[in-house]
Amino acid sequence: MRLQKLIAHAGVASRRGAEEMIRRGRVTVNGRVVREMGVVVDPAGDAVKCDGRIVRLPSRRHYFMLYKPKGVVSTLSDPEGRPTVRDYLPSGAGRVYPVGRLDWDTEGVLIFTDDGELANRLAHPRYGVERTYHVKVRGVVGEGVMARLREGFRLEDGPVDPEGVKVLRRGKTSTWLTITLREGRHHEVKRLFLALRHPVQKLRRVSYAGLEPGPLRPGESRPLSEEEVKRLRRLGRE
Ligand code: URA
Repeated sequence: MRLQKLIAHAGVASRRGAEEMIRRGRVTVNGRVVREMGVVVDPAGDAVKCDGRIVRLPSRRHYFMLYKPKGVVSTLSDPEGRPTVRDYLPSGAGRVYPVGRLDWDTEGVLIFTDDGELANRLAHPRYGVERTYHVKVRGVVGEGVMARLREGFRLEDGPVDPEGVKVLRRGKTSTWLTITLREGRHHEVKRLFLALRHPVQKLRRVSYAGLEPGPLRPGESRPLSEEEVKRLRRLGRE
């Protein structure tokens, strides 16, 4: 992309204004002042600055959070004709897809984007992105089970090492807990509690990569804020 076009697209100045800035030596590319017109730059790779301030094109990517309701599959289409998360996305959402999945009967935070690189990073176990759940299980969970959870636990496809686990409420026949995991394996929470003989009755993801739903109710969505997107981009890079 030509330098003056990039400056104009970034909203710093009009095309004419951008040319004037370049002529006056107010623009640098990778630290060097550029005064000639028509220099081609790579918006993703070159550091362009006007008056010392970095110039960025507005993101054309889309980022959403949906509070997925129960009874909905996490895919964009379902061969069995069940309700899908697509039914809940706003019309301006673009060609976004879900980052990871929640089970049909799980509700809570699900992120959508068309930014493939970020989606991979969020979903890949290597980056250990935190997922926090509230879970209602059958039976009264005692301290013995809590100790086993805290120590870490082996499932058939490998160890599960909860980042944090706490009882929220003990009832007569059930217990609500909060648990934070860093992987997102298939049916991980349900398999974990089933192995401990406390089958899951309700499951809710209350945060993903530190993003919380705030006032969203089941079926509602919102775009992520710029601050939230920036935070996601920093994940795994610190
Ligand atoms: N663990 C599960 O068992 N189900 C989910 O939907 C998410 C995590």
